[in-house]
Amino acid sequence: SDFSPTKRVGGGLIDGFKTVQHQYPMLSLSNTYSKQDLDNFDRRIKKNLNNEEARYICELKYDGVAISLIYKNGYLDKAVTRGNGVFGDDVTENVKTIKSIPLKLFGNPPKILEARGEIFIDKNQFEKINLLRQEKKKDLEVIYQKAKAKKNLSTDDLNKIKKKFIAESKRLELFSNPRNLASGTLKLLDSVKVAQRKLNCFIYSLSSTDMPFDNHFQNLLEGKKWGFKISHHIQLVHNVDEIIEFVNRFENQRNSLPFEIDGVVIKINSISKQNKLGYTSKVPKWAIAYKFKALQETTILNNVKYQIGRTGAITPVAEFEPVNLAGSIIKRASLHNADFIKKLDLKIGDRIIIEKGGDVIPKVVSVDLSKRTLECENIQFITYCPFCKSLLKRIKGESNYYCLNNNSCLPQKIAQLEHFISRDAMNIHTLGAKTIHLLYDQNIINSISDLYKLDIHSFSNLRGFGEQSKSIKKAQNIIDSIEFSKDNSFEKVLFALGIRYVGKTVSQKIAFHFLSINNIMDATLDDLLRVDEIGDKIAHSIITYFNESKNILLIDMLRESGLNFSIEKQKNTSNKLNNLSFVISGKFNVSREEIRMMINKNGGKHVSSLSNNTDYLLAGDNIGPKKKEKALSLAIPIISEIEFRKMLE
Ligand code: IVH
Repeated sequence: SDFSPTKRVGGGLIDGFKTVQHQYPMLSLSNTYSKQDLDNFDRRIKKNLNNEEARYICELKYDGVAISLIYKNGYLDKAVTRGNGVFGDDVTENVKTIKSIPLKLFGNPPKILEARGEIFIDKNQFEKINLLRQEKKKDLEVIYQKAKAKKNLSTDDLNKIKKKFIAESKRLELFSNPRNLASGTLKLLDSVKVAQRKLNCFIYSLSSTDMPFDNHFQNLLEGKKWGFKISHHIQLVHNVDEIIEFVNRFENQRNSLPFEIDGVVIKINSISKQNKLGYTSKVPKWAIAYKFKALQETTILNNVKYQIGRTGAITPVAEFEPVNLAGSIIKRASLHNADFIKKLDLKIGDRIIIEKGGDVIPKVVSVDLSKRTLECENIQFITYCPFCKSLLKRIKGESNYYCLNNNSCLPQKIAQLEHFISRDAMNIHTLGAKTIHLLYDQNIINSISDLYKLDIHSFSNLRGFGEQSKSIKKAQNIIDSIEFSKDNSFEKVLFALGIRYVGKTVSQKIAFHFLSINNIMDATLDDLLRVDEIGDKIAHSIITYFNESKNILLIDMLRESGLNFSIEKQKNTSNKLNNLSFVISGKFNVSREEIRMMINKNGGKHVSSLSNNTDYLLAGDNIGPKKKEKALSLAIPIISEIEFRKMLE
């Protein structure tokens, strides 16, 4: 049968993964780093349970990829990644190759059962795979050198060999940590390759309408009998002190465990109490993650390079000998500003201490002065912009140096555009960093407003946008999402402008307070300060922004292109889709949630599966072949995002 052990490797390549909606969203956990956080958590729980006694289960926090496994009548039916928590990828074929995940359960499990767990790769397996790659890379290098040394080689041939070598080396790049290896493996389109990587999986939650016990611990033990791999590092505890004991034990043992962990998860044991406590939109209120303290490593500082942001702020970046920190290889860290370098008393050639905090961003924490030699060199902070050569200025009250040449310093302009199109701003995600660089380099665009003047011909001479149909489609996708971005609300446009200190939340506050850009431009300092949470710094920055004629010009151009510069009440609502039902599938220019909202706001109905009553299948990119087939067989019209948007016009 399909579930016999020999059927683990289906074999054969697939085109991509189907997107599947989770029955219950896959949430994340709130993080804590101290005993005090845990005390607060415990107090909150007790308060919400009216001081009833609450017992906790401590588990390890496995550092891998979350997976949801659906079993029907004891057989593995579907394996879906977390994705965005609501929709994930169907990776069943790949998951079937994982030996620790049962294809068929023993005993009497519930008819429909969802097991959630973490797919990971053992540390030694990670090392093995990387070592093998390293060896292959060395072999490749030898072959390349030999090929290069051949006599009578034309430049053309040499370039070909070089190109192939670069492509091959890229394919053999080392994985930076076991988690990346696990998640990369799960997304491979060839399950034979997945099987070779030897993934592993711990189950940390089991749910169904008829679980045998009303507590998490016993359910997990039962799960073990059904055939799941459940860690034996699980403990029932009664109070915060016992939690801390568990945390300390595993913080010490961490390095000797065969797999990576990054903390401990603490959960209320009683399922009915879990249900009583419930969820926020993002996390359960009955569980919390305690993340381990940052890890440190020492290395040598080789160089300091300078980066420039969209506001012109110059950020020094430390480049050091690569170190392996908490499982990932790191060779760079921000030094923030000149004061930070001074405070550390940093010199090139110093032995420095690097730390990876709970926030995953590596930082330079100190210098080992005992290792300083006479060869160590002072760091001379730059006085001119490394990109446009203009003199850097320090702004009063700030520790950063700025390049004030916002108009023509290219990397600044590119960073401004990258902000403008980013997800929380105009969300033009089809436009990648490479294309942006090309567009600027070839003078096709020169400012943000030029974006809205692009047409399909603008791309015809760009590298990677030749005549082939695929390239035309790529260009058309960009044009489409630029066009769609005109529907973005005023607060998003305001955020996209990138006014210093005006982030996402502040943009919303200001937009809803003033209702239009004209009102904001007319606002005095006093008017601005009257807005909730707007202080001196933000208010001054807004005034400064609108005092610059080039900004006013930009806004005028964008307005002309049709962007929203005021809040219209009742935006986007109509009866145009009255009584029509839609099934949506695939990837769209905006999130699926937004598509669903558009359907609802215009009187339509979003349904999850196709039936005789469905009016349209709204298909984005990469729609599942089965859905398409079914729609065709039921004679349901399949429409694209563009056609859908036309229905709303
Ligand atoms: S329980 C409702 N238990 O941590 C939340 N999660 O930030 C259910 N993780 O992506 C999560 N080990 O995959 C739980 N013993 C454990 C875990 C664990 C690792 C991961 C999980 C999720 C992330 C939550």
